[in-house]
This record gives sequence, structure tokens and C-alpha cells, in this order.
Amino acid sequence: MFAPRAPKVLRMAKIPSDRPLRPATQLVHGGQMRTGFDETAEALFLTSGFVYDSAEQAEATFLGTAEHFQYSRFGNPTTSMLEQRLVLLEGAEACRVTATGMAAVSAGLLAHLKASDRVVASRALFGSCHWIVSTLLPRYGIRTEFVDGGDLQQWKAALTTPTALVLLETPSNPMLELVDLAAVCDLAHAAGALVVVDNVFATPLLQKPMQFGADVVVYSCTKHMDGQGRVLGGAVLGRKKWVEEVLQPFIRNTGPSMSPFNAWVILKGLETLHLRLPAMCRSAAAIADFLAERSEVARVLYPFRADHPQQGLAKAQMAAGGSLVTFDVQGGKEAAFRFMNALRIVAVSNNLGDSKSLVTHPATTTHMRVGAEERAKLGITDGTIRLSVGLEDVADLIEDLSTALDAIAPVQVPTRRPVLPVEAEPVAAPAAEPAAEAPKARRGKSKPSAAPAEAGTPLLFELASPLPEAPGRKG
Ligand SMILES: Cc1ncc(COP(=O)(O)O)c(C=O)c1O
Repeated sequence: MFAPRAPKVLRMAKIPSDRPLRPATQLVHGGQMRTGFDETAEALFLTSGFVYDSAEQAEATFLGTAEHFQYSRFGNPTTSMLEQRLVLLEGAEACRVTATGMAAVSAGLLAHLKASDRVVASRALFGSCHWIVSTLLPRYGIRTEFVDGGDLQQWKAALTTPTALVLLETPSNPMLELVDLAAVCDLAHAAGALVVVDNVFATPLLQKPMQFGADVVVYSCTKHMDGQGRVLGGAVLGRKKWVEEVLQPFIRNTGPSMSPFNAWVILKGLETLHLRLPAMCRSAAAIADFLAERSEVARVLYPFRADHPQQGLAKAQMAAGGSLVTFDVQGGKEAAFRFMNALRIVAVSNNLGDSKSLVTHPATTTHMRVGAEERAKLGITDGTIRLSVGLEDVADLIEDLSTALDAIAPVQVPTRRPVLPVEAEPVAAPAAEPAAEAPKARRGKSKPSAAPAEAGTPLLFELASPLPEAPGRKG
């Protein structure tokens, strides 16, 4: 059998290192190491451990005087490639990937904090992040305080006391509330805090929190990075010193490490992120505009719409409005469930960032355990629905949403377009691409008109160029 031995080398793939590469190129090539077999795709090192040439080499590796992979809980060539790709994309100094997004959040917090420390967090956090701050940390003697993330006065008041860590999410899950990153980072640093930003909803293509002063950025790679609903993963990015001296010992010894297989899937997912995300954002903007015109919808939240209370901040911090749209249907839980059950293309799920569009009812799923009182403070009602817009044709999505809204209309009147049984459709000549046009509102709803639909217009972010530097912020 022909079985050539690979030279024992792992080397960086041959890409220019003398100039910064643009995000799309980084997403395809960033961090790739090649073995002596010169494979095209990133190699999957599906191995739990590594062998040494000698006992001496093993000793030297554990002493830190020789470089060698030891054990996949500490590091693995495939997970290292993902870490390096994310470092380049984020513009961070270092990264460690973890088994899930929650492992990233909990590792980032627990590695840094100790008993008697104080944490200030925005109230609008993903349910499990909220649980860590409200329930887990106090068990270890860590004092925590929540503030309304959009209210700078509350941040100011909370950060007059010395604080070890600030945790925030912007835009938040599910209400798409924004936090002023630059202002809160300044206040937090003056209070001595490390600022940790959960950037899951924005993704590294739409928002770079470190440009506004954040110290640590965390991700659930489960979402847009995989982007195809296959694997779980998380990432923590920060300064080299903090990652190596604070985070790495925690990960090495407590073991929330990412599987090399998941790292490999996410590496391949990242290769198309710059193509998938703009398409999802364009569809989300068009869908938000469509929903705002429907009388069954009480309110729509989308960061780049003119009626979002923080549109100005969104446009200052983000390159596009994102792939999530949150809205309230009239009629509470009963109507929300009827609407969700009537959808045929959009699936009911609690995940997001997938190529498949997904709807979630936060009050009975992701935010069930935060309790009714906290949900009320967050603005989550029984009629709130979070829609993660995927990669389907936006015209099909709008038709699906429109039909499901018809199902909850208070009075059933003929729909804008009769739905014919399939066999009754006239056979038409092959048509050009259907226009991504929203069906007209059934009952003219007088609402302030939204920002012009962004569907079909170029996205507001140009992936070939980096996001603008925030004035006076560190890089
Ligand atoms: C904002 C946010 N942070 C963290 C997480 C946790 O990620 P994972 O499910 O990969 O643990 C999620 C999951 O939905 C999320 O939406």
C-alpha cells in the first residue's frame, strides 16, 4: 500500500503576512496550518492525545520549554486553526474556543472573578447568561447588580462603586436592545472592571466591540459561525496576557474545551459567513418593514429601522441591522402560538443564526426561567416572537409570515391573494426570479413609515473594508 510518511511538520498555509487581509479572505484562509501532506482543506485532527518522541520530550513539553500538542483538552491543531481565524477576524490578540457559547461565557467570567468581587450586568441577557449572573455567581460570594442596558444613568450610578467585571449583550436577546459600548466601556474601566461583551447577535462582521474599548468578546459559534445548525461551539477573545494567564489555566483544568470535529465544522462554516450574513440581514430588514405594516403586529424591533428607539446608536456601532427581528403580535400567547403553528417554511425552534429561518416564543422557552417580573422589565410580553431570518428566498418567507398572520387576524376576510390549490395554478412560462416584494398590508395600518426597505439595496457594510475606528478608542 502506498503510504507516504508525512514530514513531522505543521506549517502556516502560504498566504501573505506582510499586509492585513480583508475579512472575506481571512474567513477562508485565516489561521490555516498545513501538514506535510499539503492538503487543501483544513485537516481534522480527531485525536484526544498526542505522542512524544521520548520521555524527555514529554517532560520538556510539560515544563513549557518544548512546543508540542499535549492533550486536546489543552489544545489541538484543528481548534488552534479556528482560534487563529477568529483572532484575525475580531482583531483580538488571542482566543480560546469552548464546547458551547455558554461554556465561553461561564469560562470568561469564572476565570476572572473571585469571592467578594462585584459584577454589573445589563439586564437584557440571554436566559442562561442571566442565570449565571443572578443565581450562580452569588453562590460563590460574588455580588451582582443588573442595570437597564440602554440607560446610561443607571450604568453611571452602578459603576461609581469599584467593580471587577461588566457583562453586556448588544443587541440583546431577544428584544434587540442596544448598549452604548464606548460610553459603558469608559465608565467600566474607571471603576476598574473588565468589560465582557456577548457579541452573538451582531457577529464579528457587524460589530467589533474591542474597537469601542471592550476587553473580552464572547461568542456562541453555534449560531451564525456554523450557520447551518450542525454543531455547538463557543469562543472567548481578549488580550494575549489575559487569555494565556487567566483564561487558559481555567480551561485546561476545568475542561470546557471544544471538540476538534466541531472546530472543523465551524472553520468550514466561517468560509461562507461573509456571503450568508449580508443576505440574511437584507431579508431581515425587508421582513421587519413588512411586519410593521400588518395590523396583527403590535410592534416591530429591528435595530436599523427608523422606529427603533436606538437606531442612531445601532448605526454608530453596527455595520448592518443583523439577522434577527423581534415583534409582538396582538392577542398574547394564544395568538403567538397560533401564528407560529401556522408557519410552513419558518420552523419553531429556540436556535438562531441558521440558514433555516426559525421563530421562538421567548416567554415560554429561552426566557421562561427569568420569571414574569424580569420579563416585564425586559419588555418581553406573551405576544413577543423572535424571528431568526435565514437564507430562504425572502419572498417565500414573507408569504409564509403573511399567511400565518392571516390565521390570527381578528376577522377573517379574503386575503390579498387567493391561495390556490397547487393543481389549480395556471402553468406559467418559467418566470424570472420573483421580486422580493412584501405583500401589501391587508388593512392599511397607519403607523409612522419605517426607514426605506433595505431589500435589494447594497448592504450598509462593505466587507472589503474594516469597520470605522471609534473615535478615541483603542484598536
Ligand atoms: C446571546 C447568546 N449568548 C450565548 C448563548 C449560548 O450559546 P450556546 O447555545 O452555544 O451555549 C446564546 C444561545 O442562544 C445566545 O443567544
